[in-house]
Amino acid sequence: MQLLLTTLLFLVSSAIATPGSPVLAAAPAATTPVSFVLVGDSTTNNDTVVDSGGWGNGFCASLAKNTPCINTAHDGATTGSFIAQGLFNKSLAAIKGEVAKGRRTLVTIQFGHNDMKIAPPASMGANLTIMVNAIRAIKGEPVLVTSLSRRNFFPNGTINDALGPWADETILISQQEKTHLLDLHKASITYLQKIGQAAANRLSRTLNDTTHLNANGTIVFGRIVANLMNASYPNQLPIIANPTLTNQINKGIPSF
Ligand SMILES: *[C@@H]1O[C@H](CO)[C@@H](O)[C@H](O)[C@H]1NC(C)=O
Ligand SMILES: *[C@@H]1O[C@H](CO)[C@@H](O)[C@H](O)[C@H]1NC(C)=O
Ligand SMILES: *[C@@H]1O[C@H](CO)[C@@H](O)[C@H](O)[C@H]1NC(C)=O
Ligand SMILES: *[C@@H]1O[C@H](CO)[C@@H](O)[C@H](O)[C@H]1NC(C)=O
Ligand SMILES: *[C@@H]1O[C@H](CO)[C@@H](O)[C@H](O)[C@H]1NC(C)=O
Ligand SMILES: *[C@@H]1O[C@H](CO)[C@@H](O)[C@H](O)[C@H]1NC(C)=O
Ligand SMILES: *[C@@H]1O[C@H](CO)[C@@H](O)[C@H](O)[C@H]1NC(C)=O
Repeated sequence: MQLLLTTLLFLVSSAIATPGSPVLAAAPAATTPVSFVLVGDSTTNNDTVVDSGGWGNGFCASLAKNTPCINTAHDGATTGSFIAQGLFNKSLAAIKGEVAKGRRTLVTIQFGHNDMKIAPPASMGANLTIMVNAIRAIKGEPVLVTSLSRRNFFPNGTINDALGPWADETILISQQEKTHLLDLHKASITYLQKIGQAAANRLSRTLNDTTHLNANGTIVFGRIVANLMNASYPNQLPIIANPTLTNQINKGIPSF
């Protein structure tokens, strides 16, 4: 008995003392490969100016090499136009393709910037619910994302935000439909207020474009999305850590 116990203790301690040993490596093994499909407007899209536009490129670049990350977001889209123009059908086709390969397929959905120009939040909410159900029907996993903040500041340094009710609606739908939620709206406001207007402007695609991002902006906000994703699915996803950028984001130190 004593010998057995000693042997067991030895086995356990030697396993702990040997990082990468088969015993330790066993835990995260057998994970299904993951793909991502992104649905949204220009604040997610990979825009015409290479690597600018939305956070999508930066998010995709935060993933392990060879992780499919298909950005189907479209400039100017509302939830309604995205469905009516057949863009959502293209997203569904991409999701089907990944699911058919046996991959766990996470689908981010972020709208609000254009929806707010045409209808009250509940209209977007109804369309988000349609999207969530359609994605689930083909075995994708919807992940609702609240709108990236615009970079409009009051003179006192706080963000002048108009997207709040659309972010709240997205949160409501995530609760009703029991989806994962990434509160990018909140995280981006917190970050922007810490770095301030001058540093925020350096992330804009062009001077005074407080909506779209340049390549550096996609890196920063893509990383914020990656970190929110990792927080929502701790250590389950092929996200490559970037401790330097993450530390700067958490502390509100400008990276560019
Ligand atoms: C973004 O678009 C450029 C071409 O304009 C392409 O080379 C790049 O792979 C795209 N990135 C993503 C993440 O889709
Ligand atoms: C939601 O979709 C409906 C059509 O089903 C459309 O009338 C409405 O404008 C859409 N809402 C938004 C905010 O796009
Ligand atoms: C999207 O696909 C569905 C099912 O095939 C079809 O009924 C619908 O008309 C399509 N929508 C558009 C806008 O093409
Ligand atoms: C900053 O200014 C805005 C607009 O005047 C105001 O609504 C907000 O309460 C102010 N915030 C702080 C923290 O002073
Ligand atoms: C940007 O905004 C500033 C201040 O409002 C203005 O003076 C300048 O002309 C604008 N620049 C461009 C390129 O629109
Ligand atoms: C994901 O979150 C876990 C738990 O907080 C953390 O230990 C890990 O470093 C994070 N991974 C990445 C890639 O950021
Ligand atoms: C991004 O940041 C780098 C390093 O600070 C800078 O050289 C580059 O000009 C920036 N790119 C844009 C598009 O502002």
